[in-house]
Amino acid sequence: MPYFIDIDLSIKFAMVLLGLVLLAITLQFLRNPKRIIPNDSESIVSVADGRVISVSELKDEVSPIGEPAMVIAVFMSPFNAHVNRVPIEGQVIYVEHKAGTYLEAFKLEAGTLNEQTKIVIEKPGYKVAFKQISGFVARRIVCNLKIGEKVRKGQKFGATGFIGGNLAIKLLAEGSQVRVLLRKNSATENLNGIGVKKFYGDYENVESLREAVEDVDYIFHCAGAIKSATGSLGYYKGNVVSTMGLLYAVAFDSKRIQRFVYVSSLSASGPAISLDRALTEEATCKPISLYGMSKHDGEVAVRMMADRVPFTIIRPSVVFGERDLEMLKPFQAIANGLLPVLGIKREKYLSFIYVQDLIDGMISAATSISALNQTYYLTDPTPYSYRQFCEIIRKKLNKKFVLSFSLPEWSMYLPAFFVELGMKLTGKASILSFDKAKEMKQDYWICSAEKAKRELGFQIKVSLEDAIEKTIVWAKLNKLL
Ligand SMILES: *[C@@H]1O[C@H](CO)[C@@H](O)[C@H](O)[C@H]1NC(C)=O
Ligand SMILES: *[C@@H]1O[C@H](CO)[C@@H](O)[C@H](O)[C@H]1NC(C)=O
Repeated sequence: MPYFIDIDLSIKFAMVLLGLVLLAITLQFLRNPKRIIPNDSESIVSVADGRVISVSELKDEVSPIGEPAMVIAVFMSPFNAHVNRVPIEGQVIYVEHKAGTYLEAFKLEAGTLNEQTKIVIEKPGYKVAFKQISGFVARRIVCNLKIGEKVRKGQKFGATGFIGGNLAIKLLAEGSQVRVLLRKNSATENLNGIGVKKFYGDYENVESLREAVEDVDYIFHCAGAIKSATGSLGYYKGNVVSTMGLLYAVAFDSKRIQRFVYVSSLSASGPAISLDRALTEEATCKPISLYGMSKHDGEVAVRMMADRVPFTIIRPSVVFGERDLEMLKPFQAIANGLLPVLGIKREKYLSFIYVQDLIDGMISAATSISALNQTYYLTDPTPYSYRQFCEIIRKKLNKKFVLSFSLPEWSMYLPAFFVELGMKLTGKASILSFDKAKEMKQDYWICSAEKAKRELGFQIKVSLEDAIEKTIVWAKLNKLL
């Protein structure tokens, strides 16, 4: 009868965990409230969300504003919102980017040795200088401010992100010229100093995309909305309208386009119905979430433009690997010795793919003739139960004892309810929504790698064990584990 004991225990743990989850959510909201930017002329807005690690008078270094100054250092940990804000309203009078080392950002000497951008903004009466300094994790910094530009206080000017960033680095390493298209407040992988050309555009304004898409041979459309504070509208804008905007720009302005690769999702097709019936590309899509529907409609938009824009659609399975913080959560839970698992009666199965394998697959699909007008799942062909995946992580982390407990599926709805309420109140999107809960409830997010293997010769190069190990090495190196 151990099965029943397990349920009994799990309900108690479910209560405790629910409490913890609610507390964590509350803390999250407190820590990360919607920022109200004061509009009085006196105040200065902090350039970053983070921890103040020193306040001092400027001595050793020449003052960037030409007179004595106070220096306030703010440390952004990987868990702070990686958004930088303009401290005062005024005009940018100085921007300098300097290459450097990547010491941990909390070390004070990082302030002078690390890669950094120095900016000075002036308004009548005074100047404020600030530096964005790269850290050990966030190695590249994004700054889109230009000399002479007029800025508003609180305006966002930098951020960080995942698949697109890894892809850009790989393409550059292969000797390609890479352009990245960023939205004004883009959450981008830190892209400075690696030789990509940056373009800013608004997907709802086709004109603004023209310059970026002219003369390009391949487009990888990795951007999208994985969360929405406005339900279907947010997903529709982020995944369908954006794709259509880009397609129109390509159709009208790109003379050389060879392939438009649309990065869709397993969510677009919906879950499989059993373990022995992995999703295939031929099956009819039955998305079950608003997110899934919007990714599906993004695909429809791509297929509709097929006579003008040659396309390939990629549906990655569950992606993990370097730079991803979402799938790192079970790694962190296991490292802490406490692992919640969703679902009491049945195991949940997933298809996984390591980000480097996904990127290799995307590149070969883009350049393969047979992939023209085609859709592919890219995945490790073997599905794993969530517990099996976690067991490999546990072994690789050398963790002897991990307390794993099952939670009933309904337990997600209570925290999701509070998150939804929070989203309504703050207008800030969060990943843990009813929509996400609906997806997490499913038993079989599994897909077949057969077509990609047959037509593209796609094979994963890194086993799940090795991919997990690489992820752990990266996470430890960056002090995320
Ligand atoms: C600040 O904003 C409020 C509300 O928009 C406005 O009434 C007020 O005049 C503004 N103050 C300044 C100094 O601009
Ligand atoms: C791709 O689709 C377009 C539009 O339907 C069609 O004109 C073209 O012949 C197709 N190419 C291939 C190789 O299927």
